[in-house]
Amino acid sequence: MGSHGYSFLVLLAILVSSANAQTGLHLPVRKDSKTLQHYTTLQMGSNRADINAVIDLGGDFLWFGCDNYASNSYSPILCDSSKCELAKGSGCIVECNGSGPRPGCTNNTCGSSNFNQFQGVLAGEGFYEDTLYTRDNAQVPKFIFSCMSNDFIQGLASGAIGMVGLSKTQISLHKQVTGKMNLPDKFSLCLPSSGLGKLSIGDVSLSSKSDVSHLLKTTPLIINPVSTSPIFIAGEQSVEYFIDVKSIRVNGETLSVKDSYFSIDKDGNGGTKISTLQNYTALHPSIYKPLARAFVKAASDMKIKSVAAVAPFRACFSSSSIPKAAAGPVVPTIDLVLPGTDAYWRINGANSMVEIDQKTTCLGFVEGESRPKPQTAWPTTSIIIGTHQSEENLLVFDLVSSQLQFSSSLLSDGKSCSRV
Ligand SMILES: *[C@@H]1O[C@H](CO)[C@@H](O)[C@H](O)[C@H]1NC(C)=O
Ligand SMILES: *[C@@H]1O[C@H](CO)[C@@H](O)[C@H](O)[C@H]1NC(C)=O
Ligand SMILES: *[C@@H]1O[C@H](CO)[C@@H](O)[C@H](O)[C@H]1NC(C)=O
Repeated sequence: MGSHGYSFLVLLAILVSSANAQTGLHLPVRKDSKTLQHYTTLQMGSNRADINAVIDLGGDFLWFGCDNYASNSYSPILCDSSKCELAKGSGCIVECNGSGPRPGCTNNTCGSSNFNQFQGVLAGEGFYEDTLYTRDNAQVPKFIFSCMSNDFIQGLASGAIGMVGLSKTQISLHKQVTGKMNLPDKFSLCLPSSGLGKLSIGDVSLSSKSDVSHLLKTTPLIINPVSTSPIFIAGEQSVEYFIDVKSIRVNGETLSVKDSYFSIDKDGNGGTKISTLQNYTALHPSIYKPLARAFVKAASDMKIKSVAAVAPFRACFSSSSIPKAAAGPVVPTIDLVLPGTDAYWRINGANSMVEIDQKTTCLGFVEGESRPKPQTAWPTTSIIIGTHQSEENLLVFDLVSSQLQFSSSLLSDGKSCSRV
C-alpha cells in the first residue's frame, strides 16, 4: 500500500508540475514547393485569425497583411513609448484616413520599417500588439507585430500573408515568447523537405520516442560586428546567426581557400550565416570554384559522370551514374569544418544534390557575390547556408549560451523533421 501511495503522489506531482509548466510554443512548418519558402501557422487576435508566415531566421519581427484583420483586442504601440523603443520604431504615424482607429489607421502609432526581399521593396507602416495563439492553446498576450498593407505580401508562398522573424532583436518571435513565458531564450527549427517540420520556442526538448540528441553537435554562434540587414542604424551589429566555419572538406580533403574568406573583417564582410530565405547555399566565388572543382573530381573518382550544367548550378551529373541510398544520392561528402576537435557540419547527398529531372542531378550550391561591391549598403557574407542544405537537419539556437546545436541530416539516421 505504502509504495502505491508513494507512486500516486509522485504521479500527482508530475501531473501538477506539467500542468503548471509553460512549455513554450510548438509550431508546424511546411514547405511551399513552388517558391521553396518554409512557413509556419500562428493565430492572432480575438478572432484567432490563421496567419501563415514565411520563416525568416534573419528577420526582425512578425509582420503580416492586415487589410482583412479584425480583432477587438489589438492596440497600437504608441510613438515615443518604451515598447516603440524596444521595437526600434522609426518615425510616428499620425495620418489616419477613416472614421476610427483600426490596424493601419491609428493616430500616434510607432512606425515600422519592413523589407520584403522577394519584391525588393521597403515599406513603412505601424507596430501593434495583440494576443498570439497557437493550435495547442498556448497564448501570448500583447505580442508586438507590424501591420502591413496586403500589397506588401506579393512574392510570398501561396496562402502566406506575412513573415515571422527569428533574429536576435528584442521583438523577434522567440525573444517575445520566451520573455513573456519566463522560459530561456532558445528555439529549435527543423525545416521539412516535404511534409511537416517543426519550430519550437522555449521548450526545445526532443520527443523521447525519436531521440536524436546523440546526433547533435555544438558550435558557438558568433557576432558579426556590422549589421547585415537591409535596414539598419550605423554602428549596430548584425542580428543574424553566424557560425565560425574555418574550412571546407570534400570527401575528407580540405579545399585550398584563403582563411580571410571565412573570417569576418572589420567592415562585416565574410563569414558564414544561416538563412531561411536562401534556396541553395551561396558561396563567395573564391570558395565556390574550388568546391565545385574538388567535388567534380571526387565524383569522377566515384565513377559519377558529369553532364552539361543546368543554371543556376555549375556542376551537374548523370542521375543514373549516382548510386542511391535511403539517405539520398551517394556522392562525395561536404564538411563545413568548425572550431574544436571533430566539429563539422556534414552535408550528405540529400542536402548537397538537387534532382533537376530523371536524367540530371546537380550540386546544389550557387556562386554568391564577390565582395565588397562599392554600392552595397550592407556587408557581403562569404557563405550563406541555404534551406536545401538545412532541410531535415535539426537546428537548436540557444541564445542563453550563444550556441548552435545541429544534427546534420536526420535521414542518415532513419529520422526526419516530422518525427522530432
Ligand atoms: C528560390 O527558388 C524559387 C523557385 O525556383 C525561385 O522562384 C526563387 O527566386 C528562389 N529564391 C532565391 C532567393 O533564390
Ligand atoms: C482617404 O479616403 C478617401 C475615401 O475613402 C480616398 O478617396 C482618399 O484617397 C484617401 N486618402 C488617403 C491619403 O489615403
Ligand atoms: C487624430 O488625432 C487628431 C489630433 O489629436 C484628432 O483631431 C483626430 O480626430 C484623430 N483622428 C482619429 C481617427 O482618431
